[in-house]
Amino acid sequence: MCSVVGYIGKNYCRSIIMEGLTRLEYRGYDSAGFVCLHPQDQRLIYTKAQGGVKNLINNLENTTIDGFAGIGHTRWSTHGIASTENAHPHFDCNKNISIVHNGIIENYLEIKTKLEKSGHVFYSQTDTEVVAHLLEELLISTKDLNKAIVELVKHIKGAYALAFLIQDYPDAILLIRKSSPLCIGYGDNEVFIASDALGFAGKTNQVLFVPDKSFALVKQNKIELYDFEGKSLPLEFQIVDINWSADGKQGYEHYMLKEIYEQKKVIQGLVHKFKEIENSLWNQLGFANGIDDIRNLDHIYLIGCGSSWHAANIAKIFFENIANIETSIHLSSELRHSNFFAKKSSIAIALSQSGETADTLESLRFLNEKNIHTIALTNVKSSTITRESKGYFLTHAGPEIAVASTKVFSAQLASLYWISHKIAFEKSIINKEILDISKDNLLITAELLEGIIEDYKQDIIEKLAPYYSKFKYHLFLGKFISYPIAMEAALKLKEISYIFTEACPAGELKHGLLALIDQDTPVFMFSSMDNNIYKKLVINAQEIKARSGHLVTFAFEGQKELIELSDYSFVIPQVKTLLEPLALTGIMQFFAYQIAKNLNRPIDKPRNLAKSVTVE
Ligand code: M6R
Repeated sequence: MCSVVGYIGKNYCRSIIMEGLTRLEYRGYDSAGFVCLHPQDQRLIYTKAQGGVKNLINNLENTTIDGFAGIGHTRWSTHGIASTENAHPHFDCNKNISIVHNGIIENYLEIKTKLEKSGHVFYSQTDTEVVAHLLEELLISTKDLNKAIVELVKHIKGAYALAFLIQDYPDAILLIRKSSPLCIGYGDNEVFIASDALGFAGKTNQVLFVPDKSFALVKQNKIELYDFEGKSLPLEFQIVDINWSADGKQGYEHYMLKEIYEQKKVIQGLVHKFKEIENSLWNQLGFANGIDDIRNLDHIYLIGCGSSWHAANIAKIFFENIANIETSIHLSSELRHSNFFAKKSSIAIALSQSGETADTLESLRFLNEKNIHTIALTNVKSSTITRESKGYFLTHAGPEIAVASTKVFSAQLASLYWISHKIAFEKSIINKEILDISKDNLLITAELLEGIIEDYKQDIIEKLAPYYSKFKYHLFLGKFISYPIAMEAALKLKEISYIFTEACPAGELKHGLLALIDQDTPVFMFSSMDNNIYKKLVINAQEIKARSGHLVTFAFEGQKELIELSDYSFVIPQVKTLLEPLALTGIMQFFAYQIAKNLNRPIDKPRNLAKSVTVE
């Protein structure tokens, strides 16, 4: 969740590192820090600030802190509050070693207690600081940097991407990686370091993804790479072209709003891509026997967290109803703690916008160990999840900056809707015409997604958002395919508005939730085009009204009973049942956005959250 950025080379590093940190700020924005070696006397000089990178840049403005080797950090707090003391870099007792860290040192308390007994003094509450002090001890006892690192990694447990700048070794930045991502960009007489290659995109495209359980000494013209036993490793560079357009918010007040409005284009672009990859799809998904592997499939595991998990809930219905394949959904944070029974001809699809979510990555590794064919469905080609899966599918939504996922969620739905049709076609469940119509239906739904926002824009801005932002609790209901969209709406609203929300399958109301129904707790119900589901939802709506509940519905044209029961109803043009979630996505996101705006929330960077969740 934190970001690590570094530079060593022919240029002054401060502005390069600030640019990298600004790009990677989506990973955490509790505090930021920067340390470099003084260009003349090689002293460590640094500054830190509470809050985002802007505060750090302000701190630096009237200083001369700059040099040819430096490291920077943005923090998402795990150990210790968001304060300047806990901001990285941290140091050893003599301020010879500086360190920045992404990850968690699980046994830090044990190490800290021992070090305190031998006289080390700590200045922060973080887990990170112990590593600087431990390295200080080990450098004294081994008198050799490589030997000290080999010892260090034996002592520390957890996940870590560490970068060090050490006064006694001024010609190198030291990197150590276990689990948390870290990459190196090789330039002309300069080397860039970042948690994500986006941090130096546009400066070089020669990227070395630091291998798991390895350490590197990064010098201006040379990189030395070693495994945790100290054996030299080969350098395997890849050409990574990252499309970094720093085109900002383009006139929108927030990235989230911009990204809501990008969805139509993203789906249109995806449909175009589907046509391009139609013949190479199975290859790209890593199936050695192509169509035969697909025809024999009898189970799909879908894994993800947050919005990606909600998309998986919807995709389960696609795979089961379109491709007739039994599908199970698993929260990445839970999967590997249960007794997992691997089915024979199965595949697993890991859904992740960032491709870096630690829980999803660990579950993916768990499934890889079980020899299940894994496929990454991510938005970032260079991400760890994409690289560690046997095959991949990119959602091509462009960089998603706001913490709340919007356009990637709809891109995941569109991708999985088409993939399930492709499988159905290979299994001769549908013919070519229906496969082609599936793409047309996505295009129609993309138009609707945006059109519905436009239809209700004024009402939401002027009436609905100001009114509903006053309530302390909101409930969300759905049934079958509309339940996951209710879950996604509840998540969207809570994360950006801080209003307490809960989502529930409508049929579960009478098993507990009805106790909460009153005039102060609006209920938002997502209807369905499926007539059986609709009829049951009408009954649930009546149960709410019979208890004087306040009901807002997302209903489809012609659903008279439901509309009449509602205190307010968004009436949506009719769509195919399986495409309801995609059609309703835009209006639900826009509504949540406007409520948060009314409450003056920092919408793109909600408190306590981060875009890329790289710790478990
Ligand atoms: O990058 P991922 O899709 O793996 O992220 C998963 C969740 O952290 C993410 O969807 C989160 O719930 C979003 N903030 C939701 O808007």
